[in-house]
Amino acid sequence: MEYEHRPVMLEEVLDGLRVRPGGVYLDCTVGGAGHLRAIAERARPGRVIGLDRDPAAVAAARERLVGLEATVVQADFRRLREVLDGLGIEAVDGVLFDLGVSSHQLDTPGRGFSYREDGPLDMRMDPGQGVTAADLVNGLPREQLARIIREFGEERWADRIAAAVCRSRPVSTTGELTGVILGALPARARGGPRHPARRTFQALRVAVNGELDGLAEALEAAVESTRRGGRICVVAYHSLEDRIVKGTLRHLATDCLCPPQLPVCMCGGGRARLRLVSRLTPLPAEREENPRSRSARLRVAERLVLGVAEGE
Ligand SMILES: C[S@@+](CC[C@H](N)C(=O)[O-])C[C@H]1O[C@@H](n2cnc3c(N)ncnc32)[C@H](O)[C@@H]1O
Repeated sequence: MEYEHRPVMLEEVLDGLRVRPGGVYLDCTVGGAGHLRAIAERARPGRVIGLDRDPAAVAAARERLVGLEATVVQADFRRLREVLDGLGIEAVDGVLFDLGVSSHQLDTPGRGFSYREDGPLDMRMDPGQGVTAADLVNGLPREQLARIIREFGEERWADRIAAAVCRSRPVSTTGELTGVILGALPARARGGPRHPARRTFQALRVAVNGELDGLAEALEAAVESTRRGGRICVVAYHSLEDRIVKGTLRHLATDCLCPPQLPVCMCGGGRARLRLVSRLTPLPAEREENPRSRSARLRVAERLVLGVAEGE
């Protein structure tokens, strides 16, 4: 299948990163390189590095970046420092995280991410990794499955859905799972503009890929790997992810790292490694044109060194 290239909030990301000719930029979630190609073109004669844990994304990105000064590596972004070290790169001028799944992953039924089309219950971003959605759906005790659906999907009907799944085991395709979810929900929960299976599918995807594990540490490693004055842009699509992004960036932008119960600052202050620049959502035209952009939130921050802004 052709890789679809509709990078979310592209202009806002390019502005946020302040891409300049000759700069070095790291895209931790390269996908089909929609963002990274535009960054690489602006950064000429600079250099770009793209990471993705999905080998299909890596192949597509490499193809899309032919002729540009680009290196694409199959790696989890939690290993970003190791990858940069391997390439001999000490620091970069900007880092992008465009979190979650790509349109390509969602639209390929064989990957098992879609509740709209039938396919195997897989959902692994890296098909070389062990656990599939079918393993969770068919193997977990009911309470554990309900907890995943409740916590990672913020689904109020998690208990009913988990009970129905357990009664229907084995469930092996996305179509079967969607049918079980629809059967478990009361009629009033089946209406509305969003698909009733959306939350459960999100929950399983987050659990299969450990999407929230190590995100804070990866953001911190990205900040540490950015030069003074460089920018970090993070696009998040659901509130669980965005909460971690917001909390981590805020923490790194805090001057005083003393425990809150101390009456006076003992750490000397001036410890902030970031300045928060902006929080943006897509313009109405983009939301209209690309429904997948609707839940996007872009946060932009700037690297400081020991509380000192660029030019000070
Ligand atoms: C929303 S898509 C990125 C789309 C890309 N910005 C574009 O313009 O084509 C997110 C990508 O991040 C990858 N991804 C998600 N979590 C990852 C992780 N921990 N490490 C590396 N890649 C990850 C997914 O495989 C997916 O290809």
